[in-house]
Amino acid sequence: MVVLVTGSKGQLGQSLQFIAPNYPELDFIFCSSQELDITDLDNCLATFSKYKPDYCINAAAYTAVDKAESEPEKAHLINVVGAQNLAKSCKEHHTILLHISTDFVFDGTKTTPYLETDIPNPTGIYGQTKWDGEKAIQQILEKHFIIRTSWVYSQFGNNFMKTMLRLATERDTLSVVNDQIGTPTNAVDLAEALVAIIKSNQNTFGIYNFSNEGQCSWYDFAKKIFEFNNISINLQLIPTSSYPTPAKRPAYSVLDKSKIKYQFGIVIANWEESLLRSFT
Ligand SMILES: NC(=O)c1ccc[n+]([C@@H]2O[C@H](COP(=O)([O-])OP(=O)(O)OC[C@H]3O[C@@H](n4cnc5c(N)ncnc54)[C@H](OP(=O)(O)O)[C@@H]3O)[C@@H](O)[C@H]2O)c1
Repeated sequence: MVVLVTGSKGQLGQSLQFIAPNYPELDFIFCSSQELDITDLDNCLATFSKYKPDYCINAAAYTAVDKAESEPEKAHLINVVGAQNLAKSCKEHHTILLHISTDFVFDGTKTTPYLETDIPNPTGIYGQTKWDGEKAIQQILEKHFIIRTSWVYSQFGNNFMKTMLRLATERDTLSVVNDQIGTPTNAVDLAEALVAIIKSNQNTFGIYNFSNEGQCSWYDFAKKIFEFNNISINLQLIPTSSYPTPAKRPAYSVLDKSKIKYQFGIVIANWEESLLRSFT
């Protein structure tokens, strides 16, 4: 079983590389943005012709949420045209696509966990391009899994956890918002879920939510990061209104994981347990 991974140097890409040795039955081909530019259809088709993948995991994306507000064309090119190119390549080569999307497709006005069937209403360019990417795939390719996730962190790449740990070495006091509620996702747990979908060999295509279990604010998340690392710092909670950003974030973006758990028998760890595990 050949599994082609795009965006292999991102945090999900590196997490997939981290777990790949545990699955010798899967022949992973990891392509960085230099080796496979998903915005280039010819490059995609040539790569698919070369490796003939059974599955493609699209871990490539434009993920700079705030920067997207000032460079919407670039975000569209990677998140929509790139997704389209992979869907076309998958169709031509009978490959199943696993594409990653985001809780930022929602506006955050719900107060109970988001279902796969809830109607997206992105509040920024990044969320809009991720939703448009989902729709592009749905139009082109039947054999797809779209996995929506949230607040991804890992030991790899750039993420909130690493930013907090860096800032703690530079400052005595940190202010973190406490009125945005969501669920952190350990990128290694997400990588394991993607492998579980592939190994299940099921054709129950469609949209699935995946994050860790539970919910918290960014303040709660930061507090646990420092607690688990025995870092003492003056941590202040602030409202979102005190930390203006170019892109508006959903106030609430907890995802309901019943569908993925039921369909693939995936057992999901609580976010605190998984965070602690990432430090040991
Ligand atoms: N991070 C989060 O909190 C979060 C939350 C919800 C959903 N997601 C979704 O989860 C997925 C993985 O995110 P991540 O955190 O692993 O992202 P990431 O660390 O930013 O990695 C994205 C990767 O995509 C690559 N890339 C960019 N443009 C490309 C192109 N034209 N062709 C090929 N590769 C390209 C980047 O390569 P270069 O660095 O070389 O450009 C980078 O290695 C994404 O779909 C993202 O939207 C992330």
